[in-house]
Amino acid sequence: MNGKTDIAIASDHAGVDLKSKIIHFLQDQGLAVSDLGTHNHDSVDYPDYGVPVAQAVSEGQVQRGILICGTGIGMSIVANKFPGVRAALCFDPFTAKVSRLHNDANILVLGQRVLEEKMALEIVRLWLTTGFDGGRHARRLAKIEEIEKKGVRE
Ligand code: RB5
Repeated sequence: MNGKTDIAIASDHAGVDLKSKIIHFLQDQGLAVSDLGTHNHDSVDYPDYGVPVAQAVSEGQVQRGILICGTGIGMSIVANKFPGVRAALCFDPFTAKVSRLHNDANILVLGQRVLEEKMALEIVRLWLTTGFDGGRHARRLAKIEEIEKKGVRE
């Protein structure tokens, strides 16, 4: 990943068409996109593509990531294993906005098989342009950070 990347993006085969549309949309906005695959419709395993994006966000190589699979569920499960990753599976304008306002989501997850293209692009637009509200929401995120540091076992 080069230092100029604004957004890292990846999908499995079930999200590859929507990924192309989103990449064009992002590039039209002047954003530098790093496309970490997959690049065709051959069946692949979503963790193999979710991990590099989640790792890049977790390690601070890139601020934001977008992951796409059929439902968005598998990619969400994978991404949220990584410390510091707040991956949000969004399916409408409300969830897109609130994932930023309340959760400071740094990875947007989408399901190509459950979203119309127009809705998906609107979700991406809102997710990119909405800021974090802080305040009580920051306190809640700090508690999640504590869980990451201490682990879940007493
Ligand atoms: C692939 O068929 C599908 O299972 C995958 O894209 C995703 O929906 C998993 O959660």
